[in-house]
Amino acid sequence: MADKPVSQNIVRAEGRVDGATRRRTFGHRSQTVWFTGLSGSGKSTLAFALEEALVERGVACYVLDGDNIRFGLNRDLGFSPEDRTENIRRIGEVCRLFQDAGMVVLSAFISPYRADRDQVRALHPKGAFTEIFVDTPIEVCEARDVKGLYAKARVGDIAEFSGISAPYEAPESPELRLDTRKPLDDCVAQIIAHLGL
Ligand code: ADX
Repeated sequence: MADKPVSQNIVRAEGRVDGATRRRTFGHRSQTVWFTGLSGSGKSTLAFALEEALVERGVACYVLDGDNIRFGLNRDLGFSPEDRTENIRRIGEVCRLFQDAGMVVLSAFISPYRADRDQVRALHPKGAFTEIFVDTPIEVCEARDVKGLYAKARVGDIAEFSGISAPYEAPESPELRLDTRKPLDDCVAQIIAHLGL
């Protein structure tokens, strides 16, 4: 995917509301909180619990979730390396829009490639992107197998399955690494404390 627009005949338009005004009006900083980890690691569970806790505190917050987005915006994408990169590129742009709009956006995608996650980080202003590694070992994800996908992947019914027949590149220096053996509420409290929300 090219970095530049295909058309040369477009010009950026400037809005009249700046980030500081949004922050003052909405009462909190905006940011992207990026959960990464294997399928079944607990990304969506954490993101939805965090969303609930933050909305209760008056924070404008919304979850973008891998499976959900693949029913709509990214329904044309599969799980080849190219499609995963395009999946994350589009989501990264959407996150940046939410962040620019003054919201806290929680994204829960496997996002297996380090370079793709770093690209999303690079789209954001400094300090407005927090990477959270949901560090659940594959043995635990596979034992849970909530969606029955690991069983299918093991017998070859699903190709290119992350952690089994496709790579997962763990973050080298995430802002936060979560041990999901801890209770969910403790993980959520740890994230909120880290974000300072
Ligand atoms: S990503 O790799 O492109 O970031 P994404 O988070 O959107 O993946 O979607 C992952 C979800 O799709 C998994 O939680 C699982 O439910 C489902 N899925 C279906 N096929 C695969 C596959 N081959 N590899 C990983 N997840 C898959």
